[in-house]
Amino acid sequence: MVENHDDLTTLITLENGKPLADAKGEVTYAANFFEWFSEEAPRIYGDTIPSSVPGNRVWTIKEPVGVCGLITPWNFPAAMITRKVGPALAVGCTVVCKAPGETPFTALAIAELAHRAGIPPGVVNVITALDNTPEVGSTLTSDPVIRKISFTGSTAVGKLLMKQCSGTLKKLSLELGGNAPFIVFDDADVDAAVTGAIASKFRSSGQTCVCANRIYVQRGIYDEFSQKFAEQVKNNFRVGNGFEEGATHGPLIHHRAIEKVEQHVRDAEKKGAKVVVGGHRLESLGPNFYEPTVITGMTPDMAMASEETFGPVAGLFPFDTEEEVVKLANATQVGLAGYFFSRDIHRCVRVAEHLEVGMVGINTGLISDPASPFGGVKESGFGREGSLYGIGEYQVTKMVTVGGMGKPLQK
Ligand code: SIN
Repeated sequence: MVENHDDLTTLITLENGKPLADAKGEVTYAANFFEWFSEEAPRIYGDTIPSSVPGNRVWTIKEPVGVCGLITPWNFPAAMITRKVGPALAVGCTVVCKAPGETPFTALAIAELAHRAGIPPGVVNVITALDNTPEVGSTLTSDPVIRKISFTGSTAVGKLLMKQCSGTLKKLSLELGGNAPFIVFDDADVDAAVTGAIASKFRSSGQTCVCANRIYVQRGIYDEFSQKFAEQVKNNFRVGNGFEEGATHGPLIHHRAIEKVEQHVRDAEKKGAKVVVGGHRLESLGPNFYEPTVITGMTPDMAMASEETFGPVAGLFPFDTEEEVVKLANATQVGLAGYFFSRDIHRCVRVAEHLEVGMVGINTGLISDPASPFGGVKESGFGREGSLYGIGEYQVTKMVTVGGMGKPLQK
């Protein structure tokens, strides 16, 4: 992947639309999963366990779970595949990847590179299919040969796959939708919080499941934060074709994405919020381009408070107290990532412990790293990807007990 960095970058921009710089970063991120898991592979240990039965000896062997069905999304056409294939290969599984309908070519290129790198035929397999091809999902989830499904995508599809897997009781990892709170307390470094919120909200034009979705700003700094945030979005972003020099943000993936963004913006406006930057399609660029948008005066009854936008729209909600904002942050059925900015160490520990999410970013808007466990709680799914915990998702633990041991040495 590293040797073919430029070609992979071009493919990702072609089929996903993200700017070249982002695509380039994704290739590095994706290749890092292979590097990290290949380094972890020699450290897969079992345990020896003191038995409660005299004379017994007990140990465990970590075995590969078997053939894995991997279903990945279009927002990171390379990284979401390597995040699953890396640990699967590290522990000795073979894989069948269902490539996203919107971005199949990067998946095929990775399979070709795996082949060229010497991975034997049949170990890394890719199926391409159009968007929403239920036959593929249903075959992967019902075939008894497949022992594990790992899925990244929407909560609705995750629930369906889980139901379908019940017939053959497959091991499952589900990395599903989020609705990340991003909280800025009035003791925060406001400039750093603006930078963090922008990075978190507008990464991949808001199309990641860990993007800030609800930005809560304490009332004492609300105006200052909103003004600085809006200025940066207005002055520093350039939407365009991902291949264009200077383009910071590309198009959204398809018309459904644009429609959802529009619906959230209009809903907020109708209920009294104010669009201070953007708020419209950029039709002159193409049907899927939307202006990076900032909305102030958000309230909890607006759609953006409870639904993931998955687009370049930042809604800023004012709040008064820590207790109130933690309650608001947790008032959702999903719990993937949560972020906050504060300079009070006591508050940092307290809020991190009270947020109902699988991942917390304190004083940063970017938390993704192959070495860190990625995953959610509640309806954001279960299982962890990346890190040592990501390895365990592709293993089963076999216990071995040997009886009649521990007799005295014969004279
Ligand atoms: C995702 O959107 O599912 C993953 C984002 C990331 O790895 O940071």
